[in-house]
This record gives sequence, C-alpha cells and structure tokens, in this order.
Amino acid sequence: MIQKIDELLTIVNSTVINDSDELEQFRLRFLSKKGELNKLFAEFKNVPPEQKREFGQKLNLLKNAAQEKFDIAQNSLSAHTAQGLNVDVSLPGMPLVLGSKHPLTIVKNQIIDIFSNIGFTVAEGPEIEDDWHVFSALNFPLEHPARDMQDTFFIESNPDIVLRTHTSSVQVRVMETTPMPVRSVFPGRVFRNEAISARAHCIFHQVEGLYIDENVSFADLKQTLLYFAKEMFGASTQIRLRPSYFPFTEPSAEMDISCSICGGKGCNVCKHSGWVEILGCGMVDPNVLKSSNIDSAKYTGFAFGMGVERIAMLKYQIKDIRLFFENDLRFLEQFKSVF
Ligand code: PHE
Repeated sequence: MIQKIDELLTIVNSTVINDSDELEQFRLRFLSKKGELNKLFAEFKNVPPEQKREFGQKLNLLKNAAQEKFDIAQNSLSAHTAQGLNVDVSLPGMPLVLGSKHPLTIVKNQIIDIFSNIGFTVAEGPEIEDDWHVFSALNFPLEHPARDMQDTFFIESNPDIVLRTHTSSVQVRVMETTPMPVRSVFPGRVFRNEAISARAHCIFHQVEGLYIDENVSFADLKQTLLYFAKEMFGASTQIRLRPSYFPFTEPSAEMDISCSICGGKGCNVCKHSGWVEILGCGMVDPNVLKSSNIDSAKYTGFAFGMGVERIAMLKYQIKDIRLFFENDLRFLEQFKSVF
C-alpha cells in the first residue's frame, strides 16, 4: 500500500501538463471524488495500526504534491488564455542586447567631464561655416595656406561657405555672443581635404577650449593642461610645451605628453622620443579679441584644441584612424565605459 503511494508520487512529479485537456485528466485521475487520493483515504481504516503513521504522512505528501501541480498548471494555463498567447509566460525573459558607446563618444565625454570639473561649460557651433568664423576673425591672412583648396572643403556655388576645418570657429561665435568672462569647451566634427590613411582622415573630431577673463596668464594655461593630461592619462603623466605658430594665438605652443604606452622610455608609438603631441594651444591673439569687439586692454585669454581621435588612439592603443569610421561591430563592441 505504501509502495503504491510512492509510485503515484513519482507519477505526479513527472507529469507534464500542457493544455486544459491534460489538466482535466490529471484532476480526474488524482483529485476527483473517485480519484486515486480518495481511494487511498478510504483505505486508511484497513491499514494495520503500526503502519498508520507512515501511511498518513505519505498520503498527505502525495495529496499536497498533486494539488500543487494542479494549481500551478491551472494558473499558467489561464494566464496564457487571458493573453491569447501560446507561450509559457513563466519562463525567464529574453536577455536584452544593449549597444555600447562609440569610443570617440566615450573619449569626448571624458574630456568634457574633466574640464567641467574645473568650471568649463560646453558650447557648440555649426559644421557648415562662413569664412569669417573659420579664418578671417581668427587672424588668418588672406593668403594663408590653410585657406587653400587643398585643405578646406568649399561650397562650390559660394566659396564664402566652408566645412569648418577646426572648432576654433566656435571660439569666434562664443566671443561674439557671450558676455565676458568665458570658460568653455567646444566639442565637434571638423573636415579637411586630406588623403585618407591610417593616420589621417577627412573627417575627425576636436575639442576646443577657451578661457577669457581679466588677468588670465600663460601659467593658467599650462596648469590647466597639466591637470587635463594627468586626469586623462594618469597621475604620473608629464607635459612639455614646444613653441609653435597659429594665427589666432600669440604666443602659441604644441603640447606633448610623456608617452602613456612606454612611460617615456621610448617605443613605436612615441617614435622612441618618449613624448607624443596631443594638442595646440596659446594665448588668444589681441587681434582676435578685437575682431569680436572684446576689450583687449582689459581681457586676456587662452585657447587650446585637441583631436579626439588622437587621444582615443593613444588611450586605447588603436593603430588605424579608419577603424573609427567603419562601424565594424567587432571593433565597437570592445568599448565599455561609464562616460
Ligand atoms: N585650431 C588648431 C588646429 O586645428 C588648434 C588650436 C586651437 C591651436 C586653439 C591653438 C589654440 O590645429
């Protein structure tokens, strides 16, 4: 008799109920008036006294198992019919495949984050610009080579309109429209008529910085850039400023950082010099302030501009700039970040 209960328990546990017919069959077999459970309960009086305890316990176990099986199956079947679905709604959900941010977005956001921590706001300007904002207001002489057809994409029907070659055009827009002082960064896409190679592309991204106030000095510029380099590439990073020339800054400099790959010892990335160039900078030329009607006797400022691709290539050791623009998921999926 006890063996019979055990057998029925195995059957109950292994029964799979797929639809309402099977549910009804299960109910009739186990739980109905003439079902197995009631038959066994009726047998109880015939069980020898010394087995009554074990029999009772096992029978209760069987009863609970059968009732539970019935309830669960009934619940899930009624959920299906309610929604008209032929699926098991109790199954775990399908995992969502989340995209990842583009490495250039990650690096751009990180640059913005570093400067916003020291009070820089963010502004943007148009990618299609006029000559004034890209060149003239920035003190480019008329015959300056950067205006050359070789570098700049002009609009054929109106050569006064160009695709901006640098984000310095946003400096001019901000100086024209914002009351002083100004402390902002300008991220954006820029365009140059260059042959595409592993190191150069006709589209790339820059983040420009501009700080104009009374008594802003070259020391402020240097300290700001040192802070940036350490935040971006690690606390042991050193910087080096080399004299350079830009029409819109005087004095001008290019900034190198100690090579983040070899730590300055010399490797392929830094061409065994221990240093890699990451940006151009300088004190805003008084002529540029004047072009935007800013009192150059009262205000001084600094500006800098960096290539986002260049920083991302150094940070992630990417050897070919074209990878950023090919949208190959095998490349893009490798970048996970909080930025
Ligand atoms: N606009 C310069 C470039 O594209 C970079 C720069 C920005 C230099 C601001 C000085 C100051 O190369």
